[in-house]
Amino acid sequence: MHPLLSLSVFGLLLPQALMRVVDSPLNCIPRRSVPSNSNNALLFWEEGVFNYSAMLLREDLDLLVVGAREAMFALDLRNISKKITSVEWKASPKQVRDCKRKGKDAETECKNYIRILHEMVDGKMYVCGTNAFDPACKKMSYADGNLALMEPEDDGKGKCPFDPFQRHASIMIKNDLYSATSMNFLGSEPVLMLSPYVNPLSGPIRTEIKTSWLYDPNFVSMASMPDSEKDDNDDKVYLFFSETAVEFNCYSKLGVSRVARVCKGDEGGQRTLQKKWTSFLKASLDCPVPGSQLPYIIQDSYRWCDPSLHWKECVFYATFTSQSHTSEISAVCAYRMSDISKQFSEGKYKTPASVETSYITWVTFSGEVPEPRPGACINREATNSEIKTTLDLPDKTLQFIREKPLMDQAIEPIGGRPLLTHKGAAFTQIIVKQVQALDGEKYNVMFIGTDQGKLLKALHNEEMFIIEEVQLFTPPQKIKILKFSNKMGQIYVGSDISVVQISPANCERSSTCFDCVLSRDPYCGWDKVEGKCVSVSSSQSVLIQDMKGNASHCPDAGPVVEPLTRNIKPGRILKLRCPSPSNLAKLIWKRNGIPLPHSPEDGLLILDDSDNNNNNSGKYSCLSVEKSKAGEYETIVVNYEVIISLENGGVTQAQSSGESHSGLIVAIVVLAVCLVLLLTWRVVKRHINLPCDRTKEKGEEPQQTRDLEAKDASVPLAAETPNKHTNAGDAPCQRGPTRKE
Ligand SMILES: *[C@@H]1O[C@H](CO)[C@@H](O)[C@H](O)[C@H]1NC(C)=O
Ligand SMILES: *[C@@H]1O[C@H](CO)[C@@H](O)[C@H](O)[C@H]1NC(C)=O
Ligand SMILES: *[C@@H]1O[C@H](CO)[C@@H](O)[C@H](O)[C@H]1NC(C)=O
Ligand SMILES: *[C@@H]1O[C@H](CO)[C@@H](O)[C@H](O)[C@H]1NC(C)=O
Repeated sequence: MHPLLSLSVFGLLLPQALMRVVDSPLNCIPRRSVPSNSNNALLFWEEGVFNYSAMLLREDLDLLVVGAREAMFALDLRNISKKITSVEWKASPKQVRDCKRKGKDAETECKNYIRILHEMVDGKMYVCGTNAFDPACKKMSYADGNLALMEPEDDGKGKCPFDPFQRHASIMIKNDLYSATSMNFLGSEPVLMLSPYVNPLSGPIRTEIKTSWLYDPNFVSMASMPDSEKDDNDDKVYLFFSETAVEFNCYSKLGVSRVARVCKGDEGGQRTLQKKWTSFLKASLDCPVPGSQLPYIIQDSYRWCDPSLHWKECVFYATFTSQSHTSEISAVCAYRMSDISKQFSEGKYKTPASVETSYITWVTFSGEVPEPRPGACINREATNSEIKTTLDLPDKTLQFIREKPLMDQAIEPIGGRPLLTHKGAAFTQIIVKQVQALDGEKYNVMFIGTDQGKLLKALHNEEMFIIEEVQLFTPPQKIKILKFSNKMGQIYVGSDISVVQISPANCERSSTCFDCVLSRDPYCGWDKVEGKCVSVSSSQSVLIQDMKGNASHCPDAGPVVEPLTRNIKPGRILKLRCPSPSNLAKLIWKRNGIPLPHSPEDGLLILDDSDNNNNNSGKYSCLSVEKSKAGEYETIVVNYEVIISLENGGVTQAQSSGESHSGLIVAIVVLAVCLVLLLTWRVVKRHINLPCDRTKEKGEEPQQTRDLEAKDASVPLAAETPNKHTNAGDAPCQRGPTRKE
């Protein structure tokens, strides 16, 4: 007997497997990562058209109107892949010439980027574009299946940015356009402006051009609040933005996040603040991410209101990113409307104070505040006195607000900290939907876009939890706009290269009851009878769902996982794969029911040696073990029956006996070399452990890799055999094809 070398190489790990999840409290890891090839999205794009960054839902017409570069599209709201019609709007040759003459780039900047799309009272639409650095607006109609732009053209100055790369915000209320943008070519005159529709001759109302009002701002979003507790004049418009801080004593410019508001009834002052807001007040928004020194910068906000509750119960959800270049943390903070409102109506003001000759610092104003309160709307209380409109406001009040529009205190988020923090691609857009779960409770589900084209679906329910991240755009593209249609129950997402439509619920991604329940998705439940994870809204059956992740209601046995048969030839390596359903699960491999000491996540390598009574055949199972607050749950992901392939073994035997004894000795030597190589490789792998960890933190997707690799699970490792090993018949040791150094 020639005892052949025997080795079983359990625990040989591939690089991905080394990327153990680094459990930082600031990095909430998505439970599931969905690659773009299985995102179930509907897609729209048109050859040669880019920058799909304006969107208007027309649920009344079943249309999604999309504004891109030099074009607008009307898409079927049910399926955006179906284009109904489109209309072009290019900058005129003269405008392009002027734009070029002023030193702008013909191919990028001197085009017409559609930035504003609003619905008007009569059902027409109001569209504005950058128009080769000469912003313009037009009305647009939709009739007989066609979009048509209407003349005359309005001046777009102060409504739409000149520069397509500059951020802006706008909202249309009863045909009145509130816009926040820069109103000059250089982009140096930021304004929040109202362009009244009914009486355009009376002219716009806007902010003062003063750094204490707006200082290099980045406008993010706007929202209107009915706010009509007492009367109509108390309605307000809120603006979210970031700007350079005036109030910090720093050597370098520091960004801060703000919310500002104006009253809808504001007509400006009589002499002071003529045609300027008399009600412009702003306050800082705090989103205190633990361990960070610098304020976080707001990127988007979403107004969420429960229709059955008072407007003061509305909540603003906002995404934030770090202004430090070394941090990759993004956060979501939520603010109560009542907290914001209270700050503006009762809070103290900040005031500039010169400390030394030219040095200004901002301090709490502790002097006497004039009456009526600066920045207050003209509500019934004021109307009862002599003051009927803002034109009647006394100079003292107006002077005060002109100098001191900044509130003293920052607005703190609900709970005093972020609802969610995540490390990786920066958050961009956010929308929030309330879903009633089967336990009767309502959960607010956040859909968050990133600058790498992923959409995160997250919950805040005592703790933060990201149900999944879905790759929507490949190559990765920044998510620039996010909309939700209540009528269709669908999400629409825009980027520079395309528009995508997806359903908020994709329950079929879970194939087992544990997976379905542990995903804690209020949209999904497990149908015991059908044996499927289904959408709660589309099912009549009794479903299993538990928002705490208590999966004890799931049937004990779980689905029967039929073993897959794998043959292993004597002396060869076999790789068994196990696609984990969850990034939060741990994998455990068992052989004949006994757990193996190492459970690599990327696949188990088995090397056979039949002649040593230790042939490693048997039943292998891979289990995923996932913890939730309610317990720890084990599911069989895959079973394998590994058998020794006698036929091939026989052939090998025959071949080796046909050769001389020395052939066998060569084989032994080769095996020994292999063993050494494998062990060395293992050691080397340990050393390059760290870079892998970093890749993981950058938000790469082990799950995706696992899923893809799982498909060729049965392929025995072959190829890349080092030259010296290619001797007779089966090379005894072969390297895997998927190894990346
Ligand atoms: C428009 O899209 C193109 C193509 O993706 C991109 O390179 C460019 O930066 C975008 N322009 C703006 C203004 O967003
Ligand atoms: C959506 O429309 C496209 C183009 O007409 C079609 O190919 C596709 O099957 C439709 N998808 C659905 C889900 O209706
Ligand atoms: C492999 O070992 C098992 C027991 O561990 C034995 O039942 C089986 O017959 C062996 N197979 C071969 C081909 O040696
Ligand atoms: C989970 O559900 C089971 C079955 O209803 C229940 O007995 C158990 O107490 C629950 N566990 C937790 C931690 O809520």
